[in-house]
Amino acid sequence: MRRPLVIGNWKMNGRSASVARLLNDILAGIGDCKAEVGVCVPFVYIPQASEILKGTKVMLGAQNVADHNSGAFTGEISAGMLREFGCEIVIVGHSERRLLYGESNELVASRYEQAIQGHLKPILCVGETLEQREHGRTLAVIGAQIDTVFEFAGVQSLEHAVIAYEPVWAVGTGHSATTGQAQEVHYHIRSLIGRWNPEVAQAVQIIYGGSVKPENAAELFAMPDIDGGLIGGASLDARAFLSICHSV
Ligand code: G3P
Repeated sequence: MRRPLVIGNWKMNGRSASVARLLNDILAGIGDCKAEVGVCVPFVYIPQASEILKGTKVMLGAQNVADHNSGAFTGEISAGMLREFGCEIVIVGHSERRLLYGESNELVASRYEQAIQGHLKPILCVGETLEQREHGRTLAVIGAQIDTVFEFAGVQSLEHAVIAYEPVWAVGTGHSATTGQAQEVHYHIRSLIGRWNPEVAQAVQIIYGGSVKPENAAELFAMPDIDGGLIGGASLDARAFLSICHSV
């Protein structure tokens, strides 16, 4: 069976003092949480977070990774560098990267591939904009995002990856997808993968992101194809994040 997974995406938030506080509060409250738990912190706080999380059950991650493993790529951080500082997971293809920084399906797929090759577990974000949803293109958009990754890295790579469905219209808006809307897309993603490899489709964790809060987490996580959450705003508050982690 798939183990539930809850990941905090801190985005560009925090300072050294609040990083220490938040991580220590999470560690103090994580107890016997049934979910696997991780946090994706801003790059510069990775060494600090790595010290605090060493030997604990909270996984450390980054919010992006380079599409090459070394060389003249100003501003990029490679999978090897992240591994050296204790990262196990990395977000790729977040909608903020796709929309604000123009990351294409191809670029996201090569970042994903680098994560796999560098032994980091990519959390591949997919999702549609409101306009795409209103034009009935949700499943086609997500299909194209996932297909490009298959072309680059093969379906088998999903044995070492996680998919996060994050409808763009639900990210940071306070308006989560309904359980029905989210389950429909998660089911579709699993079926898409199942056409290539049914075992991988059953095993891969597909998590939901977009305005997950303590109030709606349990209901979302109870859906058959929703294996946990990728949490933005609520992951910056230890009490809210822990409540979500304990909702599985
Ligand atoms: O990656 C998580 C994220 O985009 C969701 O953000 O603030 O809606 O939980 P939020």
